[in-house]
Amino acid sequence: EFSWKLKDHPKLPKGKTIAMVVLDGWGEANPNKYNCIHVAETPTMDSLKNGAPDKWRLVKAHGKAVGLPTDDDMGNSEVGHNALGAGRIYAQGAQLVDIALETGKIYDGEGFKYIKESFETGTLHLIGLLSDGGVHSRLNQLQLLLKGASERGAKRIRVHILTDGRDVLDGSSVGFVETLENDLAKLREKGVDAQVASGGGRMYVTMDRYENDWDVVKRGWDAQVLGEAPHKFKNPVEAVKKLREIPNTNDQYLPPFVIVDENGKAVGPIVDGDAVVTFNFRADRMVMIAKALEYENFDKFDRVRFPKIRYAGMLQYDGELKLPSRYLVSPPEIERTSGEYLVHNGVRTFACSETVKFGHVTFFWNGNRSGYFNPQMEEYVEIPSDSGITFNVQPKMKALEIAEKARDAILSRKFDQVRVNLPNGDMVGHTGDIEATVVACKAADEAVKMILDAIEQVGGIYVVTADHGNAEDMVKRNKKGEPLLDKNGNIQILTSHTLEPVPIAIGGPGLAPGVRFRKDVPNGGLANVAATVINLHGFEAPSDYETTLIEVVDN
Ligand code: 3PG
Ligand code: CO
Repeated sequence: EFSWKLKDHPKLPKGKTIAMVVLDGWGEANPNKYNCIHVAETPTMDSLKNGAPDKWRLVKAHGKAVGLPTDDDMGNSEVGHNALGAGRIYAQGAQLVDIALETGKIYDGEGFKYIKESFETGTLHLIGLLSDGGVHSRLNQLQLLLKGASERGAKRIRVHILTDGRDVLDGSSVGFVETLENDLAKLREKGVDAQVASGGGRMYVTMDRYENDWDVVKRGWDAQVLGEAPHKFKNPVEAVKKLREIPNTNDQYLPPFVIVDENGKAVGPIVDGDAVVTFNFRADRMVMIAKALEYENFDKFDRVRFPKIRYAGMLQYDGELKLPSRYLVSPPEIERTSGEYLVHNGVRTFACSETVKFGHVTFFWNGNRSGYFNPQMEEYVEIPSDSGITFNVQPKMKALEIAEKARDAILSRKFDQVRVNLPNGDMVGHTGDIEATVVACKAADEAVKMILDAIEQVGGIYVVTADHGNAEDMVKRNKKGEPLLDKNGNIQILTSHTLEPVPIAIGGPGLAPGVRFRKDVPNGGLANVAATVINLHGFEAPSDYETTLIEVVDN
């Protein structure tokens, strides 16, 4: 019979304050000039690495270890925090969609049947990130969906593209649009009226997250739904090429555009009777547009028109909000996360980050579930992020403020677990600005120091780790690991995450003597961290969790 009650750990005490620090985008790689963590002054993280050898190790943070389809898939924050919080490895959205498309099961599902009702008289709109990054979406999935939908009766299709340059190289958007255009041309030859209707860069149009900046979603709405944008083109390849020429613009930040016909009329606004699919599988950057498309009552911006559509997400993006209510593929069923166990066992939790990563240490950590398990036992604090800037301009971000909140929470002794995400390495790493990323890494290291000092004061324990790599390698490399050059002889900047493992360190005055990392979990990954932390809180982990990384030896 199931019980939330965890067994007492035979050797480890309860009641220690644990700081659970997640450095976002902080992997371990060879020291060289493109490794911003190496270049930056990071005395705190260095001291953890060079301290007791049995209290620092690396864990896997990419590929199958975090539920991604292959070991060529870089890690990301969604799957990383899911694994950290849930303690088990779930087949993630990327893979579930692959399977549903491969087997054709996607077309038998309720979601597809629902949108198919519109195919006879309406247009099918597909909105999402156009790249093969595999973090939020994947080009080949869009291609299969286009094919499958047209074979099942979609006669008029409009694609609303969001260009990437963040999970893939900047500039690659042109090639992806060309590929898509080719596919749409083939559909047109078969008599399907298929076209790109609008577009824009993912960071400027549609894909905001955690309600950081609703203007981003509004710009997308205006182009996609209303057919209005500052830039108009007849051809999407031309659109992307031309807009990239605007100074200081790149794939991530392309301004919104619409495709117009001979008469200058937008070719694909969304109107009553249409079907809409947001084809990203990842949740965080789809929740806001899903609300705009689905909610009858909505006051985040003036939608001007709220068309009566049949809308489905590729996945359901929020299980608690049941948003959207229709979806093509069921999301992974992540249940019994460590956070939920801990509230049932008297562990009081504080979690904090700034807006852009706030949902990572709460929503993703808790298995893509929003809100508290038990508000009496938990407090989540969000520090507002700077909005409307790229983070290379403010590389310190809110690291200090997050650390201060964590410090105060630790010193208050009101919490048993104080959990933070420090976004700097990742958010600044994604800008591709190497100098700024070095500053970012230093700021994150200083934040860690402040948290560790507080742990020292209360006799607590720290666990410091990361969710995936980013800042430790800022250059695209060939198979041999050598930096790749572009046609002008400049290095190709890597804005994306990496395949690197991440460090995990444990310590602090409250760590019981004899606790050390086991030697027999050489392939340990992020999913092994939850059992480790549950042990440090004085409990045995649930039996189906991935095994703990620690052991207690008698001195
Ligand atoms: C993003 O959404 O910013 C990137 O695609 C992935 O970054 P994250 O996984 O670190 O959030
Ligand atoms: Co990232």
